[in-house]
This record gives sequence, structure tokens and C-alpha cells, in this order.
Amino acid sequence: MTTLAQYLKAQKTDSAVSDVITTVTEVGKTISQLLRKGALADILGEAGNQNVQGEEQKKLDVLANDLLLDALAQNKHCAGVASEELDDATPANADGNLLVLFDPLDGSSNIDINMAVGTIFSILPYQRQGQTSENSDFLQAGNAQLAAGYLLYGTSTMLALTVVDNVVMFSLDPDSNDYILVKDNVQIDADTSEYAINSSNYRYWRAPMQQYIDELVAGDTGVRGRDFNMRWVAAMVGDVHRILCRGGLFTYPFDTKYPNKAGKLRLMYEANPMSLLIERAGGSATDATHRILDIAPTDIHQRVPVVLGSKNEVDYVKDLHLKHDNK
Ligand code: F6P
Ligand code: MN
Repeated sequence: MTTLAQYLKAQKTDSAVSDVITTVTEVGKTISQLLRKGALADILGEAGNQNVQGEEQKKLDVLANDLLLDALAQNKHCAGVASEELDDATPANADGNLLVLFDPLDGSSNIDINMAVGTIFSILPYQRQGQTSENSDFLQAGNAQLAAGYLLYGTSTMLALTVVDNVVMFSLDPDSNDYILVKDNVQIDADTSEYAINSSNYRYWRAPMQQYIDELVAGDTGVRGRDFNMRWVAAMVGDVHRILCRGGLFTYPFDTKYPNKAGKLRLMYEANPMSLLIERAGGSATDATHRILDIAPTDIHQRVPVVLGSKNEVDYVKDLHLKHDNK
């Protein structure tokens, strides 16, 4: 049996990175406990505020955000924190050499219906040690991430993590309250017959995405010559977890529903950490034409279309888009 602490030590993980991962995952234990209590903890329902994207904040979104923020502010390696719930990044310890970005509670509309939610995190290097961090310090491409992962609060609490070059999974043992390694070197099959998309947005998609989904829905009567199955957790963390477990394709594509937004998902604390996990597990992640991890960010809250998962299927979607764009 290997605990998270033993794993990080055995991998000779950089001590600062290791320390920050420990801080985030310890807070994850508290969030997990609050979720287990559910309605009894008086944390369900709206908090009455709107976050920077104009969405209603749930009580637990605010709580999870504050818990992570407070814990990371006390971590001497953490020079700054950016969160889905904060308009601007918050400076922490100027002498730190790491920046931490997180989505404190992904899929928060699932909280009130007792369904899976998660915490997504991304760790970047900080280049201006000794000076107060600013938003612009966070604007690094996803390929600069030193570590990334998520906590999934599902029927059990799990941690998926990538620090060096592979992806590992831990289960939170409710008896010992330790994260125990349950999957070493997670790998995603290149081919899949399962996909995840919110089809109610069909009329807002670009033509190549409509064509792709038409082909999947046609199944063995269409050009793909086989049937596909559809799943949608409505929390990215749940869909990505399924893909890491058994392959598949997840997309939240570009749509014209909100013309001023490039997509729904956020690049820096949703798409980048998930893309690093997916690529390290042998999959692919693209905005439909470009590798997500290569995108140079211009805003900590910027949105991006996302297509990720089993490599051959993601390449297929990308080819449809490239052929359409080069016509
Ligand atoms: O964080 C945004 C998010 O909640 C993702 O976790 C999820 O994949 C998606 O939005 C769900 O979107 P929709 O409400 O369109 O199903
Ligand atoms: Mn989210």
C-alpha cells in the first residue's frame, strides 16, 4: 500500500511542488467531508453572489475557494493563487517559486442533486521570486505546468495526478483518511466508441462539429460503420475521470450561444490541467485545430473550446475541422 506522501517521496518530487500538492489535497479532504454531510452541513443552495463569469455562486463554491485560498496563502512556496471564483489573482508569499490555479468546485450545479463534483488544480513556476505576483505572471502556456490534477468527489473521493511523465490515481481511504495509490501509469486506448457532449447546443455548433455528431448518431448506418454510446456527467471532472478509466471523447466545443465567449470551459484552470493529464495518459487535447497546451493565454479567465480524450477520435474531430477550414 502506497500513500500519496510515500509516492511523492519515492518519485523524488521537487519538495516545493510536493508541499503544494499536499496542501491542496489536504483541503480536498475537508471539502470531501463537507460534501458527505450534504444538506446537514448547511452548505447547499446559493450564496447570493455572482462569480466573475456572471454565474450564481453556490455556498460550497465559496467555501471551497476560501479553504484553498487560506491554506495556500500559508504555504511558503506559493507566490500567488488564481481561482475561477476570484476576479484577479491573489498574491501570496513573494519568496515562493510556484503559482497555483484552481477550479475549487467544478460542476457545482451537481451539488444540490447529490452528484459528482470536483476540484481541479494546476501548478506553474513563478519567475519573479521576491516580488509580488500579478495576473500577468500566470499567463503561461499549459505546457509549462509543473504538476496538475483533480479531486473527484464521487461515490468515493479520488485524486488523479501528474507530476513527472505519467498519471496516477489515489483513493481517499475513509478509515485512515489517507490517499492510497490505486492506479499507476494510467493509459487511455487510442480508439473509443463513447463520447460526451451537451447535444442541446447542436444548433450553435460549427458545421464540422455538427457533422461529427451526426456521424456518431448515425452509428452503424453511417460512414463510421459502428455504433457509439453517449455519456454526460455535467461536471468536466467526472467526464475526464471516466475517460482516464475507460477511454472516450469529451468535448465542449465552440458555439455561438454566447457570441463573445470562445467556449464554455476555462483554459487555465480547467482545460490546461485536464489536457496535461489526458496527454500524459496517451490521449490528445485540442481546441479543435490547435493543441491546448500550446495556447499562449492572454487572460486568467479566458475560455477555450475543448476536445479531449482517446487519441484517434480526437484526431478525427481535428481533421474534420481542418478540412472544413481549408476548403
Ligand atoms: O465548469 C463548467 C462545467 O460545469 C463543466 O464542469 C461541465 O462539463 C460543463 O460546465 C457542463 O455544462 P452544461 O451545463 O452545458 O451541461
Ligand atoms: Mn468548472
